[in-house]
Amino acid sequence: MRTPLIAGNWKMNTDSSSAAELAAAIVCRAGEVTDAELLVCPPTIYLTQVRDSIGDAAVSLGAQNMYHESGGAYTGETSVSMLNDIGAKYVILGHSERRHIMGESDEDVNKKTHAALQAGLRPIVCVGELLEQREAGQTTEVIRGQMEGSLADVTAEQISSVVIAYEPVWAIGTGKVATPEQAEEVHADLRKQLTERYNAEIADTVRILYGGSVKPDNAETLLGQPNIDGALIGGASLKADDFLAIAAAGAAVVQA
Ligand code: 13P
Repeated sequence: MRTPLIAGNWKMNTDSSSAAELAAAIVCRAGEVTDAELLVCPPTIYLTQVRDSIGDAAVSLGAQNMYHESGGAYTGETSVSMLNDIGAKYVILGHSERRHIMGESDEDVNKKTHAALQAGLRPIVCVGELLEQREAGQTTEVIRGQMEGSLADVTAEQISSVVIAYEPVWAIGTGKVATPEQAEEVHADLRKQLTERYNAEIADTVRILYGGSVKPDNAETLLGQPNIDGALIGGASLKADDFLAIAAAGAAVVQA
């Protein structure tokens, strides 16, 4: 059984005091969630502050992005060694907002994935189709292309450290959640792709998260799908109660 990963992507939200408060509110009740891993991904500038709020509580720390080069003249960027240095364990890569607003390509995501893996940071590689692609029946093809490009040359030894996140772009921040059947169909195909690339045993170890309008009231049915191993949460992760309620739903599925 894969332990569900319940990840909060705070995006470009919070300020120094609200980031510390949100982290403290999550930490305070993190002990209630025993069968799911909790992860918070604050804005880069608040990573150290959130790390300090977490202390030694069972909440992991992740970044929302990084650059693939190890250091040097890259104004405004953050390297993987900097993320390691401040204690991050995960990094979200290729989020649809980075792909569609900042123009990141699969090749960019692939370079970052390799840099993260080489440095021992666990990448959360995001894939997902646009509404027009879904309506044109291109979902599988689009996601297969993103997987191939983003995970090119990732070895069988490395893939177990990778987390995949399926986030249909039309479901992000819109309140339009994918139905559990729609999500499971894509997740099952992602698992199949991992089986084709590696083997069934390896594919079985990889956690595949769903993201896109996950809320406390839809979490349990989504997380109850056989190939959904956690959630990547935007809006609802900014409220400790909602985030923890989603984590409790993930833990309940494990206990069922
Ligand atoms: P929402 O949960 O706000 O739809 O955002 C999802 C997301 O993009 C998480 O990375």
